[in-house]
Order: sequence, then structure tokens, then C-alpha cells
Amino acid sequence: MPKPRILVIDDEAPIRDSLKMTLEYEGYEFIGAATGQEGLALAEREAPDMVLLDVKMPGMDGLEVLERLRNMNETLPVVVVSGHGTISTAVEATKKGAFDFIEKPFPSERVLVSLRNALDSRQLRDENRSLKKAVEIRHQMIGESAGLKQAMAAVGRAAPTNATVLITGESGVGKELVARTIHRNSLRSRERFVQVNCAAIPEELIESELFGHEKGSFTGATEKQVGKFEQADRGTIFLDEVGDMSAKTQAKVLRVLQEGEVERLGSARTVKVDVRVIAATNKNLEEEIERGHFREDLYFRLAVIPIHVPPLRERPDDVAPLVRHYMDYFSRENNVRPKRITQAALDALARYRWRGNIRELRNTVERMIIMTGSDTIDLADLPETVRSPAAWSGGGGLASPKQPSDSEAAKMGTLREFKENAERMFLVGKLRENGWNISKTAEVIGTPRSNLYKKLEQYRSEPDDRRRVQIRGRKVRTPQGSAPGNARSGQPEGQWHRKHTARRRGQISIFAQRTVGAKIEI
Ligand SMILES: Nc1ncnc2c1ncn2[C@@H]1O[C@H](COP(=O)(O)OP(=O)(O)OP(=O)(O)O)[C@@H](O)[C@H]1O
Ligand SMILES: [Mg+2]
Repeated sequence: MPKPRILVIDDEAPIRDSLKMTLEYEGYEFIGAATGQEGLALAEREAPDMVLLDVKMPGMDGLEVLERLRNMNETLPVVVVSGHGTISTAVEATKKGAFDFIEKPFPSERVLVSLRNALDSRQLRDENRSLKKAVEIRHQMIGESAGLKQAMAAVGRAAPTNATVLITGESGVGKELVARTIHRNSLRSRERFVQVNCAAIPEELIESELFGHEKGSFTGATEKQVGKFEQADRGTIFLDEVGDMSAKTQAKVLRVLQEGEVERLGSARTVKVDVRVIAATNKNLEEEIERGHFREDLYFRLAVIPIHVPPLRERPDDVAPLVRHYMDYFSRENNVRPKRITQAALDALARYRWRGNIRELRNTVERMIIMTGSDTIDLADLPETVRSPAAWSGGGGLASPKQPSDSEAAKMGTLREFKENAERMFLVGKLRENGWNISKTAEVIGTPRSNLYKKLEQYRSEPDDRRRVQIRGRKVRTPQGSAPGNARSGQPEGQWHRKHTARRRGQISIFAQRTVGAKIEI
């Protein structure tokens, strides 16, 4: 670490000399100035970490120098020293922003303590500022498209209110970012933002996670647990993937929204909570209501302010600013020289159909920053999939391994069936391309692993390709005719089996398939 640099502005040479000795002995770098003018010039040229400033000097006096120093750099700590230590000088110096005031003659220890305090406070302030900046950059919503602007206008209107917000949009479009932006711009911004991913918590644990439980309220409840709603009291709770909540949990959440109170499992007592609810889903809740999977009354409670975040393919104007933002961000993150990108490469990125939306774009840019050796990213540096015209949103339509045949198309009567088929073909194609490795596939298509699992369960991917299933690095061999892991045997070929694997924070459902062919790595 470089030595802290201390600028001493004092017209008395013996004082400068003795401070020089003390400071250098203590490991500081000493810079001396005999007049205010000289001090100001050195402050500009040498960028000291702090200043020790005498008040009574011929020419420009210390208090004027202090004022000018503050104008030059308001974060530079200045400790004022005066032999004419009247209260009024001290008060004036403090008013003008001095960090500390020391009366002459002073013991060197007094100066050193003040110096250390000033430097510590500066370091803290710098760290604070850079942390704040990093958080701001991480949570910045980039984009200029009309679609994003419309969503942001709704965010601006919703933020200062207490209204419940329902954010909808495909995976990776920025729903969580929108939720955080609303919280940061709300009156609750100093309170907690508590996030609950309703899809990642198993059914049997979600109630105690949301509402808490008393010790002994069920087998395994060895300690009392405060639920997320209580944790978010006075703040915001973000119910992510709210479309995945069971009917029972939906009923309980509705009650919290209606009554403003929660009841811990195993307790007859209710606790009042003041929580703002923001929910998000990539499901079409209206369709879910029609199918009887989501309560209509809860939907209306949640969607007081609905905000839809459009997919990236509907806002290609956002691609270039996002690419530039992430190029900048990942160059700094990975300590590599900033690169430029050609227009042709930007155009191809804007044309690509980003199924994983911004998350996929972000991963692609990170990979390009790390993998491109030269200073310029050109077409050839883009992943093959992005360059291929079949993957463009306007051009070839689906990036799936094959287009549906006429007979297949005929089977896809409704738009919904068509979408499901197309998605299934895409996923199977991608899984095959990536050797049936789920983590890798999820990364390539820019979707969370949990989401891919869900999709796999939903679409029951083709039954004829798998035999071996690898769970978190542990191979589970599935001999012909018997099921993997703890799944029941005797099921028809291709049946999916649910397997619960304990995880550190709860459990996650893993769907293993007993069939023939490749392996899945999780
Ligand atoms: N407008 C944007 N500007 C910059 N980064 C963005 C923007 N929108 C999203 N991102 C980034 O994209 C990634 C995905 O966003 P986020 O997690 O908010 O999406 P999501 O809609 O919640 O996805 P999922 O449905 O998969 O949970 C995050 O890293 C986020 O910071
Ligand atoms: Mg999310």
C-alpha cells in the first residue's frame, strides 16, 4: 500500500521540520508548504490524502486556504492548527468544513491521533462511495426502447406508493431488477427487501418459510423461525415466481394481504405486519386462473399495479446499450483492457432471438470479453448460434434443431400447443447439443437451472434418450427396467420420477428419467 501523503502548510520552518520528522517516522509521506498559495498549488499537483493547515500565516490566511481547499476537493480532510486557538477560530474552521482543530503548541501524539482519524474516515467514505457506486451499477436499468421506458414509467409511478405490484415477463427480462428498483425508490428503501423464490422452496417448507413456525410445531421444527413476512416488516417482500405457489399457500398469502397479519405455524397468535408486496411471475396468470391453478381473488390483490417487462426481442434498441454496459462492466470485473465492438457484431447481437433475454445476453458478453484475444470484438468472435440466421428473431424463426413437419404442425392445434411443442423441441435440441448436461444447457440458453427443471417436468422431454442420471456429480446408474435413485420401479418406460435431494437451504426437486441413451448431469 502506498504511504499516505500529508501536506503540511505552515509558515514556521521549525514546526514543518519537526512534523516532517514525526510523520516520516510514523510511515507517512511529508509534503511541506510555507505559504497558503504554495499549499494550494501542491494540493492540486500532489493529490495529498490529508492536509495539516496553520491558520495564522502571512499573505493568505489558513481559513481562506481552507475554503479554497474545500472548493477544490470537498472530500480531502483538513486538520486546522492554530496558536491563536480562540473558540471563534475553531468554530469558524469547523463551519468551513475542517475535520479537526488542534491548538498550538501540540504534542505530536495529538496530531497523529487526529491524522489517523481523518485518514480512517476518508477511507471509509471512499469505500462507501465505491460500494454504493458498484451497487448502483449492478442495479442500473439500461435501455432506451419504448417498451422499457413504458415499464420504467410505471415503476416511477408505483415506487412511492404502498400499492402491491405484479411484474410479469419472460425469464431473464429483468423482473427482479424492476422489483429492486421499486423498493430502492420507495419510502421503505431504508428497510429490508426480502426475496422469496416460491418455485425453489418445496411445498412442505414454503409455509414455514413465509409465515414462520414455533418450536416443535412439526417434526423437524427444532427451533422457532421468524417467517419472511415478519422479516420484511416495514419493508418490502418480493414473492418471486408467485405463479408456482400451491393453493394452500395462495390462500394464506391472500389472508396476509387482506388482514395485514401473519400466523406462525403452531401458534394461535397473529402478528401484525406492515409489508409491501411485490410479486413476479413468468407465467400467464390469467391462463393459470382459467386452468384452476391460481386464485382469481389473489390475482386481483397482487395486480393492483401490473408491470409487464417485454422480452428483449421486442426491444432490439436495448441490445446495443446493454452490450456496451456489460462490456464495460466485465472488462473492469475481469481486469482486462476495455474492448470495442464492430457495428456488424452489434447488428448480429440485435438480430438474435434472445430466449434467455438479458441474462443470456449478459452471459454472452461476459464470455466474449474473456475469450476474445484482440481489442475489437467482431462477427467472428460471436458464438456460432448468434451468427446463424436461423436464430434471428425476424429471419428464420425458431432456433430449434428442426422445424415442425406438417403432420406435427397439424397436431399443434392451438397457439399454446404450438408454443409448448416448439419450446420442447428447442430444449431437447439444446440438451442434446450439450451432452444432456442440465447446468451447462441452462447456462447456454440463459435460464436458471431451476427453470429448466421445471420445463423438463412440464414437457416431459422425449422419453427415448436417457439411461444414466447424474445427480450433483454423483452418478446414479439406471439399469434397464429399474428406476434411478429412490424412484419407484415398474413405471412405464419414459416416466419421470421425482427425486428430492437435500440442499443446504431446503430441498430442490430433481426429475430423473429412466430410459435409454445419454446421461444428464446436474
Ligand atoms: N434493463 C437492464 N439493464 C441492465 N441489466 C439488466 C436489465 N434487465 C435485466 N438485467 C440483468 O439481467 C439479469 C436477469 O435479470 P432478472 O434476474 O431481474 O430477470 P428476471 O426477469 O427476474 O428473470 P427470471 O424470470 O429468470 O427470474 C440480471 O443480471 C439483471 O441485472
Ligand atoms: Mg427473477
